Amino acid sequence: MTTIASPAPSVAHDTFPINGTDYIEFWVGNAKQSAMFYRAAFGFELLAYRGPETGVRDRASYLLQQDKIRFVLTSPVGPEGPIADHIRLHGDGVRDLAFWVDDARTAHKLAVERGARSVQEPTVTKDADGEVVIAAIATYGDTIHSIVERRNYHGRFLPGFVPKSSPFKTVPTGLKYVDHCVGNVELGKMNEWVEFYSRVLGFYNLLSFDDKDISTEYSSLMSKVMSNGNGRIKFPINEPAAGKKKSQIDEYLDFYRGPGVQHIAMATDDIVKTVRDMMNRGVEFLSVPHSYYEGAKARVGKIDESFSALEELGVLVDRDDEGYLLQIFSKPVQDRPTLFYEIIQRKGAKSFGKGNFRALFESIEREQGLRGNL
Ligand code: FE2
Repeated sequence: MTTIASPAPSVAHDTFPINGTDYIEFWVGNAKQSAMFYRAAFGFELLAYRGPETGVRDRASYLLQQDKIRFVLTSPVGPEGPIADHIRLHGDGVRDLAFWVDDARTAHKLAVERGARSVQEPTVTKDADGEVVIAAIATYGDTIHSIVERRNYHGRFLPGFVPKSSPFKTVPTGLKYVDHCVGNVELGKMNEWVEFYSRVLGFYNLLSFDDKDISTEYSSLMSKVMSNGNGRIKFPINEPAAGKKKSQIDEYLDFYRGPGVQHIAMATDDIVKTVRDMMNRGVEFLSVPHSYYEGAKARVGKIDESFSALEELGVLVDRDDEGYLLQIFSKPVQDRPTLFYEIIQRKGAKSFGKGNFRALFESIEREQGLRGNL
């Protein structure tokens, strides 16, 4: 057994308390159209907007929400500046995994004292609904963590955003909250970033997987899951491991041109309903062979869902000491083989579907092979 699990230390171990994910911001080539994709296909609701019409000259941002999940999609309105540079290099991707905190100034100060690189000093913005304090620190690649304090704000999102609605009415797909966000980093860098989250933010190493856990005939990877004390922030960090062919992590790093967010896992209470709905709206998911389900019944035992429904959709299932989980992975949501999504339903299990790694990675490699990148 090569998986190592660690007991959760006390919340007091955190450098500063984090209430949860505040929002995830994507820098994309055409936020207006990306917003439509997440609204129509994923079931997010468009709530607010900030851009040239509201006095922000260089960019347009759309706030989307479904239950506790907030996405911000931002595009530049010209070729100059950091957003356009980011998109030229990385394509569409995640810029910011923002933390919701009670005291952004202290959080930023403590993080910097512990070695974080500051990207934004604490900055106060105000409107008629109150004030928000935002600071930011750098993490892997060009990704950042904004630190958002909103206890003195009563508006919908952030100062400057104005409510936006549309005759297009969103029907939610049942996505509820962000379960975890996974980063891909270069060979040999996983432990550096594990150490970063431990030293700077006080996170602990919840689980470790080595290349014996996560390998197929052709390629492998290593992964460590970092968590904050209350478990609301979970960041698995992957690095490629040597194999006969190119690892899926190498493919990501080649096409994203460096480290970045590989996938975001979002939780549902009814994965069969959510995934069927998303498929019918055009979201593409990875498929798994029939043989997977022959083995799964014996491996997992009795579950509430019908195996035939899971097989029809390609939903994977795994069990740990505390229960089981159901999960499925989308294909990349842009033409570069970079960011994708996981839909997960936890029924007691707190793990990450180790029993599915092999089937999952074989499925990813089939797609990788079709792209000519294996
Ligand atoms: Fe995941």
